[in-house]
Amino acid sequence: MPNKENALLYARENFQKFKTELQNLIEIPSVSTDPNHVNDIRRAAEWLKEKLDQLGFQETKILETEGHPAVYGHHQVDPDALTVLVYGHYDVQPADPIDLWNTDPFEPTLSGERLYGRGASDMKGQIIASLAAVESLIKNGGSPVNIKYIIEGEEEIGSPNLPNALKKNAALLSCDVILNPDAGMISPEAPTIVYGLRGLAYFEIMVKGPNRDLHSGMFGGVVQNPAIVLSKLIAGMISEDGIIQLPGYYDTVENLTPEERAELSRLPISDADLMQQTGTKKLAGEKGYTSIERIGARPTLDVNGFLSGFTGKGSKTIIPSWAMAKVSMRLVPHQDPAEVYQQLTAYLQENAPDTVSWEVKQHAGGPAAITNRKHPGVKALSDALEEIWHQKPYFKREGGSIPVVTEMQNIIGTESVLTGFGLPGDNIHSPNESLHLPTWEKGILALILFFFNIAGGYEN
Ligand code: BES
Ligand code: MN
Repeated sequence: MPNKENALLYARENFQKFKTELQNLIEIPSVSTDPNHVNDIRRAAEWLKEKLDQLGFQETKILETEGHPAVYGHHQVDPDALTVLVYGHYDVQPADPIDLWNTDPFEPTLSGERLYGRGASDMKGQIIASLAAVESLIKNGGSPVNIKYIIEGEEEIGSPNLPNALKKNAALLSCDVILNPDAGMISPEAPTIVYGLRGLAYFEIMVKGPNRDLHSGMFGGVVQNPAIVLSKLIAGMISEDGIIQLPGYYDTVENLTPEERAELSRLPISDADLMQQTGTKKLAGEKGYTSIERIGARPTLDVNGFLSGFTGKGSKTIIPSWAMAKVSMRLVPHQDPAEVYQQLTAYLQENAPDTVSWEVKQHAGGPAAITNRKHPGVKALSDALEEIWHQKPYFKREGGSIPVVTEMQNIIGTESVLTGFGLPGDNIHSPNESLHLPTWEKGILALILFFFNIAGGYEN
């Protein structure tokens, strides 16, 4: 018989072992965007498959996709019991700029209460937390529910190939609820359920001028400078009030209800916190909205990278032949990345001068997601977090994206409940990423309780 107390005790006694496993996983540099790491990607997938095998999952496999593979596992305890599908991604963002790391990003390093390394928080730590919880169940009388895993290797590049693989394997993934621990918490004292994620549309804009870099004295004054053109185009994409100028951009965006605005205003996150977390002297954003609303419930446009001309040491007098920018938009429900592509090209058609040519390349992304908060999985998770933290979780809409959440809702027809044990100060996607271990340990215990809660109180 599944035994909750023994499972919790087992987890407490094995934190050290779980931490070592996490270190082993972080050591594999599974950077999905970098072709030099394809072998590491495969190694990470195999590492996880083996872990599921060791835990006694009856069915495990590497699910090949057109891109990086996903890992699938099924642990069935009773065909009549309900099934929790755990979602994760084993890929990580690149570590650069590498010079800014105090330690090797792929040599996990303990310091104080934190474990440093790329992916420690986003999200290898969260995968291991879920596996630790599952192990604690299996080793102590068994799991009270059937457990499935899908751990992908392309989340950090927008999951371009997972939806197709999922469509082909929809039956494998059938479940009653999806547990997604890839979102974070507000603070170590504030357990959080994330009920909204923004979507993402991501583009590369290339502006081409002369057929080579030119002497800026011989030709300056008669040849258009692509860097200036691209700067102006980008500057025109957003107004002084922070309103995005692409034609039709807000057409499908829904206004927040007064109730939701009131609820969001109660979250314990201040502008001072955000300035402190980011090291900025003043915040910016769309006029008329609070910071929490701007982050979770309003769409944005950002430049992620900008390249043109001579950027080495010293000086060089040229008119660059081209200028390139990576531009992405965080989207809210009812905005469609394909439509945003049309809006961007319409804007460029209207505003780019005829002295240059331009191209837009689209990277993978996905739509926003909202969880139905009435789903029993939300209650099961909420009660679990409350029992460990001795306080009710906050409900938050996050600004980050997990592209397949909506896809899974569409393909398998199941809701995802999102949480996670990362903190705003974890530096995810930044140098010196780390995981706060005391929070992570509590998270393991909370996940154990989640599995018991959902088994006990599930009503369709
Ligand atoms: N775990 C994050 C998303 C996230 C961040 C959720 C913070 C909640 C709070 C995820 O791994 C991520 O970073 N996703 C990318 C997806 C993108 C490349 C399509 C993102 O949001 O940039
Ligand atoms: Mn991430």
